[in-house]
Amino acid sequence: MSIATMADTGLRFRIQPTGGALGADVFGFPFKDFTAAEFAAVRAAWTRHQVLRFRGIDITDEDQIRFAAGLGPFVIHPRQMQEGTHGSHREILVISNLKKADGSPAGDLGDGEVNWHTDTWFVTRPPSASILRALRLPAHGGNTCFLDMYAAYDTLDDAAKKAIEGRYIHHQKVIDGRGDVRMGMVRPRTDDVRSWPGVPHPIVRTVPESGRKALYLGGRRHAWIIGMEPDESAALLAKLWTHCIQDRFVWCQQWQPGDMVMWDNRCVMHRRDAFDPNTIRLMHRTAIEGERPV
Ligand code: SIN
Repeated sequence: MSIATMADTGLRFRIQPTGGALGADVFGFPFKDFTAAEFAAVRAAWTRHQVLRFRGIDITDEDQIRFAAGLGPFVIHPRQMQEGTHGSHREILVISNLKKADGSPAGDLGDGEVNWHTDTWFVTRPPSASILRALRLPAHGGNTCFLDMYAAYDTLDDAAKKAIEGRYIHHQKVIDGRGDVRMGMVRPRTDDVRSWPGVPHPIVRTVPESGRKALYLGGRRHAWIIGMEPDESAALLAKLWTHCIQDRFVWCQQWQPGDMVMWDNRCVMHRRDAFDPNTIRLMHRTAIEGERPV
């Protein structure tokens, strides 16, 4: 794709595809005084490229909040489900391995690997946009990879498309991606996830702005395809996961100071590498309410 120059577009910034499976870089976006037309252009680029990276920016929490607010109402993370409460901005979730004076976490997600998922897939209306800004980074590790779920759907064979047509996954909300019981939940007495609290979402969803179909798997742990026997469901989910986590659908963000990344949570999944627990990684995330997947 050709690179639109600022002179071509009349905008004060430029957008350049990463050259990978998805994503684009945005250079020079005027966070302090962007116009409605400039915001609309970024929004259109986000719809098109699914992930946008703003590199070398120097913005405040307030700037991040003002920018994100243009996309819709914020997801305010329930305190009982997340550890990353920000001291002064409810709109921001702190993702970090920092600890408080008493040794308890001062951020969400710690220093470990985070497996492929979409953000908060186990609620009725998962976020549409997630925006993650780097404040402190480890020297190595902690990179975040993104997976193109439009391409994952488009390239499924006909048999797989037929098998998932009209099907829903029951996304349990008790156990998190690390295998721990979520805050405010109790470990169920039975291993049969069919009776666990959760929400149903279609396996294929259409993103309203693009009109494109995306595979929507949410998170892998304890998922169940409604109406199937557990073994049959596990076999089909394994096939879908094996298909979608191919390198050809993935682009990885190698974080640098001054990076902020914005992804469409409806049509990408992401994962994060672990990093050295003796180093500090500090990120501020804002998330925007999405629609119920259909
Ligand atoms: C997340 O899974 O939302 C966190 C991603 C990251 O820490 O890079």
